[in-house]
Amino acid sequence: MLESEKRLYMYEKVAEHLESGVHVIDSTGRTIIYNRKMREIEGMEIEDVLDKNLLDVFQFHSEEESTLLKVLNTKEPTLNMKQTYFNINGIEITTMNDTFPIFHDEVLIGAIEIARDITKLEKVMRDHMHKRPSSLYTFDSIIGQHHRLQDAIETGKRATRNSSPVLICGEIGTGKELFAHSIHNDSARANHPFITQNCSSLRDDMLEEILFQDEQEGSSPGDQRPSLFQQAQGGTLLLDEINSLPPSLQEKLLNFFSRGTDLPYDVRVMATVNEDPIDAIAEGRLLKELYYRLSIVSIFIPSLRSRKDDLPEIVKYFIDQFNHHFAMNMKGISKEVMDIFHQYDWPGNVRELEHVIEGAFNLVGFEDEIHFNHLPFGFRQRILHTAVGEEKQDESDFLYQSGTEIKPLELFIEEAETYYIQKSLKHHDFNITKTAKSLGMSRQNLQYRIRKYGIERNAF
Ligand SMILES: Nc1ncnc2c1ncn2[C@@H]1O[C@H](COP(=O)(O)OP(=O)(O)OP(=O)(O)O)[C@@H](O)[C@H]1O
Ligand SMILES: [Mg+2]
Repeated sequence: MLESEKRLYMYEKVAEHLESGVHVIDSTGRTIIYNRKMREIEGMEIEDVLDKNLLDVFQFHSEEESTLLKVLNTKEPTLNMKQTYFNINGIEITTMNDTFPIFHDEVLIGAIEIARDITKLEKVMRDHMHKRPSSLYTFDSIIGQHHRLQDAIETGKRATRNSSPVLICGEIGTGKELFAHSIHNDSARANHPFITQNCSSLRDDMLEEILFQDEQEGSSPGDQRPSLFQQAQGGTLLLDEINSLPPSLQEKLLNFFSRGTDLPYDVRVMATVNEDPIDAIAEGRLLKELYYRLSIVSIFIPSLRSRKDDLPEIVKYFIDQFNHHFAMNMKGISKEVMDIFHQYDWPGNVRELEHVIEGAFNLVGFEDEIHFNHLPFGFRQRILHTAVGEEKQDESDFLYQSGTEIKPLELFIEEAETYYIQKSLKHHDFNITKTAKSLGMSRQNLQYRIRKYGIERNAF
């Protein structure tokens, strides 16, 4: 090994062991060094990044957003710059970077970035920033005019006048906890605790301890945490996702409730199920007797897809909220985006819509309206799937999938690529080797693209 080769090799080893992310690109934007820590931060494999152009691998909302490319352009170092971007799986990453241009004989030959991962910190800050204290949830924060939603609100309001158990049913993200809080906050119990227990995280051996602990024989008072009922004394206990509780535990719960007025607690019990309770009973996930006991009042929250007329009002509500939180002045969403929202199925319901709008707020530059290219990458991929997956779509229509508006070339090429790869995969019955061969690319490259565009088998 030449002395210079040995030195290079050793430098590479140093980079691998550093606890900061290191990413070096050449003057064309191609990755030359990408160390272990950087791979960890960005959740990428080395072959996905090395020798590839940065813009092919990561999604920034503009070239300016990449601190590495910015330094290539300005030839000036930047210190402590926060950067938020997306990896090929559409996962959001936030780092703090120090970035330096690299000169050789006064010629710019590349740039180096030293990065610290602050994704988690950023999330916590953001959650903290716009998570309303649940005590502020009232019926006024439930948005929508659809008659089924209004019925649900009516039932909820009536339930504030007594202490009967309430069962709240709705798909994920429809606002079940929002309803539970609203009822509590509008009831005479508002000044007492609201305690939530997620049932999916309760294990067999824990349930009794957690719920009834201070009841157990032989337990010495003082050395135990108070049970949930004790904690919720005078207030409300919400048993979230009760259908995820094993039947044996549901039985125990039922026995406990059956003691009725013997119970030493004054606690209102509410429960949620994230599916139709009748299906849950039929398929053995919900004990019929427990259902009867809890559903003295039942509230059914409609899915977002069944009340799409409410979309404009909900969109406006979230835009107002995020304007407030981010101190921005967004006017609304473009017609194209509204059309897309109307066509989409919203499997994650209102929460998904909230996240899409929040994501767009992070991607808009100086515009005051949200356009298609501001929507979070992952959401755009899902839209694409739904559109491409529709068999009835004529192939010549492909150009016009999301309206006839002209979109950025980069986006169009991405869509075309996704579409063609999907077709080829289908043709070869999802055999990666054969498909890669017919497309004239390596298996690795094809797999990279499948991940990049989030192509799934069931999208066909
Ligand atoms: N009708 C609505 N109006 C305004 N915001 C809503 C509405 N429904 C839900 N949200 C918002 O959507 C998010 C999800 O609501 P919530 O947590 O109550 O849903 P959930 O049904 O409990 O979801 P999961 O089943 O995933 O636990 C919250 O931020 C909530 O404020
Ligand atoms: Mg919930």
